[in-house]
Amino acid sequence: MDDLSTAVPLNAALEAAGFSTAMFSSLDDGPRTVRRESPELVILTGAVHEPHALQLAALARDAEISTLALLEPTDSERAERVGRLGVTETMMKPVAPDDAVATARRLIERRHLQERTGIAGESAAIQEVLVKIEQMAPVSSTVLILGESGTGKELVAKAIHDLSPRRGRPFVAVNCAALPESLLESELFGHEKGAFTGAAERRLGRFELADTGTIFLDEIGEIPAATQVKLLRVLESRTFFRVGGTQPIKVDVRVVAATNRPLRDAVTLGEFRDDLYYRLNVLNIYLPPLRERREDIPLLVRRFIKELARAHDRTFRGITPEAMQRLVSAPWPGNVRQLRNLIESMVVLAPGAEIRASDIPSDILEGPSLLPVRLGGQLREGNAGGGHELEFILRSLLELKLQVEELRRRLDENPQRVQVIELGDQSTLSEVLPHDEGANGDGTVIYRSGMTMEDVEKAAIQAALQEYRGNRRRAAEVLGIGERTLYRKIKAYQLE
Ligand SMILES: Nc1ncnc2c1ncn2[C@@H]1O[C@H](COP(=O)(O)OP(=O)(O)OP(=O)(O)O)[C@@H](O)[C@H]1O
Ligand SMILES: [Mg+2]
Repeated sequence: MDDLSTAVPLNAALEAAGFSTAMFSSLDDGPRTVRRESPELVILTGAVHEPHALQLAALARDAEISTLALLEPTDSERAERVGRLGVTETMMKPVAPDDAVATARRLIERRHLQERTGIAGESAAIQEVLVKIEQMAPVSSTVLILGESGTGKELVAKAIHDLSPRRGRPFVAVNCAALPESLLESELFGHEKGAFTGAAERRLGRFELADTGTIFLDEIGEIPAATQVKLLRVLESRTFFRVGGTQPIKVDVRVVAATNRPLRDAVTLGEFRDDLYYRLNVLNIYLPPLRERREDIPLLVRRFIKELARAHDRTFRGITPEAMQRLVSAPWPGNVRQLRNLIESMVVLAPGAEIRASDIPSDILEGPSLLPVRLGGQLREGNAGGGHELEFILRSLLELKLQVEELRRRLDENPQRVQVIELGDQSTLSEVLPHDEGANGDGTVIYRSGMTMEDVEKAAIQAALQEYRGNRRRAAEVLGIGERTLYRKIKAYQLE
């Protein structure tokens, strides 16, 4: 499009390389052509800052079509505007047709990769994740995937396996936080008959089941100290013993691990072995939270609406611009999973054939404000090094402020939820408490004099478990402790 002296030879080179192409200029209706042809790639050969080109780039982004923009050398002076073009990739003119063809081929291959893996996203962060997956899939090195809950860690782990030479071989996932310590070891390494009470038969562990394939160790940050030692041995020698076994077992397994805990901090706190950390962290992939790549929200929303409307057999037109705007600016603490779940509920519950702003539950739009994100950006720009401490302090203060706001909001919403009542004597207590427990029926935690910290903790755990009907994961989240810690405490306080 535009700049014919670049477009014509490039078009010829693309055709010669076997691509089927269509050329159009800004005089034609670009968006209509793109909608009609739904190409795999749009190349902007000139006038990239013109409104019609920007409009086209935005349309392509939402339709998950890649764009390559060829820039004039003078465009680089407007670097910050180039960043806002919203294209997938840029090249500086003069561009040799062969180089452009190679880039085009790469972009198209990456798009196929997204189709194969289901990893959607046009943001630079997601494109970087895809490049890393491409690089890491062919080898057998251990990969550590880091990212908040719901950012797509399992999706990425599967993608690495599916693109690796191990595809077609087993992909075995283990949630390291879901099992108590004793079961986790037998789950991972198997056990011999009679290894412990109840071990009636020999059982193969997940490492053996994953032989020649990939094992995905999810929530690796929750793994207890004793298991950490054993895992280290597997990573070093690919050998282990079944529980109760004396024969070393050798396997050929690729390890992909994931955690939503900053593992480095756990190492500093002495909760996670540093030697194990380094063994796991040979290659790593960081999945940024959705609030840091809001430009991906519209296309995720459209994709989920299409997918879930089909799954639930509902005819759906889509979403109003106002509703979309609200979703783009929501905080998304639960990231892509939360977004997907919300779209599912709206697709099922929305009264019309379109999601409107009024269909979005108000609690989605609240929560941590956008402030830390914006502040982060400003500080990063204004600081050429040396400002990390200041950034850290400001961030901590902000986080604290947000937590206080969140607490206040929760109390306003539901003043009954957390109640601290100081009671002098037992007679008054029996009037307040339905039964003689620290936690009563509606999840209220009560303090009475004479209670130790342990009593209060036990009561808080009981209350959280009750509130989330025994869902330990949610309870641990609300209590702000690791799932494994919660398991340990449940055991210690005999709450099972
Ligand atoms: N980039 C993405 N494109 C499309 N779908 C995504 C993307 N990222 C995540 N999802 C979807 O969001 C949901 C959560 O993803 P996933 O289970 O991989 O997250 P996770 O990081 O493992 O979360 P957790 O830490 O809670 O286990 C899944 O339904 C997944 O398909
Ligand atoms: Mg997961």
